[in-house]
Amino acid sequence: MREILVIGIGPGNPDHVTVQAVEALNRAEVVFVVDKGDEKSGLLELRDEICRRHIRDQAGYRVVGIPEPARDRKAEDYQRAVGEWHDKRAALFEAALLEHLDDDGIGAFLVWGDPSLYDSTLRIIDRILARGAVPFEYRVIPGITSVQVLTAQHRLPLNRIGEQIHITTGRRIADAGGLPAGLDSAVVMLDAGFAAAGIDDPELSVYWGAYLGSPDEVLISGRLGDVAEHIVRTKQELRERHGWIMDTYLLRRDAQDRSRATE
Ligand SMILES: C[S@@+](CC[C@H](N)C(=O)[O-])C[C@H]1O[C@@H](n2cnc3c(N)ncnc32)[C@H](O)[C@@H]1O
Repeated sequence: MREILVIGIGPGNPDHVTVQAVEALNRAEVVFVVDKGDEKSGLLELRDEICRRHIRDQAGYRVVGIPEPARDRKAEDYQRAVGEWHDKRAALFEAALLEHLDDDGIGAFLVWGDPSLYDSTLRIIDRILARGAVPFEYRVIPGITSVQVLTAQHRLPLNRIGEQIHITTGRRIADAGGLPAGLDSAVVMLDAGFAAAGIDDPELSVYWGAYLGSPDEVLISGRLGDVAEHIVRTKQELRERHGWIMDTYLLRRDAQDRSRATE
């Protein structure tokens, strides 16, 4: 039976790959990576570097790119559009498994950060298994998330005492026009612009990070009203310079700041 290892590789620093992930990488005969095109080539380079650094037998594995299918980002029915996109991805993943992995081969999917956080690989795996054309067993190896690197670099606990943790997307923050009701903090991911720039709340602070964990890392923090424009400009400049950007930020209402101690 084929075996698939879904390996979280951290968000940008080969030192953030866990010992368990290194051992899993060393078992893989084929490493599958999703090729998002030139624009995101920085990510592929990092994955190559992780394989070079952490796989002991460099002749003992192959890297196979899986093309990313086109996605309808303007569809009115968001859930359906994502479902259709996942179907297309499942078909491409399945074809790659059939073509490149023997019946008893071991393959690895390298996943940015951790596979449980805003990543569709595990949903795709379920879809492939449901299609029934290529049976396999699979395991998930956790990785360090971009959220953990963000809080480490800003030297912050993620929650304050008794506070819940909320992780959301730029789209939801834009729709809500601020923090969701009843919350004093939220981590924002997947924000193509900087949705928080539209929030008028003098009590909010922001802790922002781009290319976290990599040599290109940029951190900005301060009162949202004071640094929002700076973050917007910095994002534009960085996107032009690198051709891509990934950023994450924590919004926090300071008036509720009871203590920096963790629970
Ligand atoms: C598809 S999600 C993947 C998240 C990933 N699974 C994780 O555990 O961090 C992509 C989003 O993660 C965040 N992200 C991932 N890597 C990052 C990095 N190195 N620096 C800043 N943000 C990052 C960004 O918000 C980006 O839009």
